[in-house]
Amino acid sequence: MKALVSNRILASRLLNMGFNKPRGPGCEVRDVPKPTIEPHEILVRVRAVAVNPTDFKHADIVSPPNSILGCDYAGEVVEIGAQAPGNWAMGDRVAGAVHGGLYSDRGAFAEYLKVDGDLAFKVPEGMTDEDAATLGVSIGTAMLALNQRLGIPWPSILKGSGRKDFVEGFPVLIYSGATTAGLMAIQFAKAAGCTVVVTASPRSFDLVKKYGADHVFDYRSKDVVAVITKQFPNITAALDCYSEAGSTEICAQVLKNKGGKVVTLLMDAKAKTPGVEVENIMAYTLMGKPFQWLAPIGPKWEARPEDRKALAELCKSGLELTKVIKPPPTRHLEGGFDGIISGLEKLRRGEASGCKFVITL
Ligand SMILES: NC(=O)c1ccc[n+]([C@@H]2O[C@H](COP(=O)([O-])OP(=O)(O)OC[C@H]3O[C@@H](n4cnc5c(N)ncnc54)[C@H](OP(=O)(O)O)[C@@H]3O)[C@@H](O)[C@H]2O)c1
Repeated sequence: MKALVSNRILASRLLNMGFNKPRGPGCEVRDVPKPTIEPHEILVRVRAVAVNPTDFKHADIVSPPNSILGCDYAGEVVEIGAQAPGNWAMGDRVAGAVHGGLYSDRGAFAEYLKVDGDLAFKVPEGMTDEDAATLGVSIGTAMLALNQRLGIPWPSILKGSGRKDFVEGFPVLIYSGATTAGLMAIQFAKAAGCTVVVTASPRSFDLVKKYGADHVFDYRSKDVVAVITKQFPNITAALDCYSEAGSTEICAQVLKNKGGKVVTLLMDAKAKTPGVEVENIMAYTLMGKPFQWLAPIGPKWEARPEDRKALAELCKSGLELTKVIKPPPTRHLEGGFDGIISGLEKLRRGEASGCKFVITL
């Protein structure tokens, strides 16, 4: 089968990490063996994928050579393992996310993809493959951050997992709500009953409101902390969907009156505000397996079985979930695998604004 495979050696990836000036795409289309499934897995014929910033970061720095890239996919079930959970039938439409860029036999940017039967969701009728392909990473990230780490319950789906001080209207800050992660988090928080306080740039105010933001503030404004805390002096929970250039400190400052927790999406994001905890998440822990970046020298993550269980619950609720969560706006890129490579380059250049690039395979 055809797949998009990483091709940078360790030295080149270390240089990219140090100087942030990657040359070339860091990947190429190759013929590789079609994956063989385990009894708990299903095989998916991939029909559409979405590109995420993590995919080019993997191609540039993280991925060992010969790893299949890509996390977000949608397609159809073409083989079912003898003990695969999920009640799958041949031809079912399926979507989700995998840990792309780490394994030579599993990655979304491929004609065929093997996935755990309980970590994929059924695509509802009426939703296109391209829309479905935008949901895996973004919904998983929003759920992991808001539900598992900040304790915001979603009673109909993730039972019993809420924080004790949660009441209807609980205020939560979503920093950079126009990111794909942010648009999902806004909807998740809204469905949970939160008052959703969002930062975005003015070009994205209408977009984040359309996805459920109750109050929107310009993150570029010099007095953004003062303006938010004047109106919302009691915020104790924040998700920083940007996690760069001081954004985490701004979130922490918003929480400083009462203390609380900021969840970040990038490892280097830090804040020094007393009484405010900062916790980084990696959506890959949802897959329930330990992993290491830049092996053998890079950071390691332990398996988090509770994260995997939460994702499996979310996937089981698939249809219910997609009734309340709508996909982000999409922009379709032509060219199949070449379209993926050009999508990765657009993300490197920061050209995604309020939209997700999707590619039909
Ligand atoms: N740790 C994890 O598990 C995890 C999971 C998902 C994503 N991530 C990371 O989270 C980040 C967001 O990913 P994504 O795919 O959701 O993003 P995305 O959709 O590519 O984000 C695009 C948006 O970023 C916003 N933006 C650009 N410059 C900004 C700035 N200086 N300050 C604040 N916002 C700015 C823009 O919003 P405006 O129009 O408002 O300017 C733009 O619409 C990436 O770094 C990604 O690698 C991590």
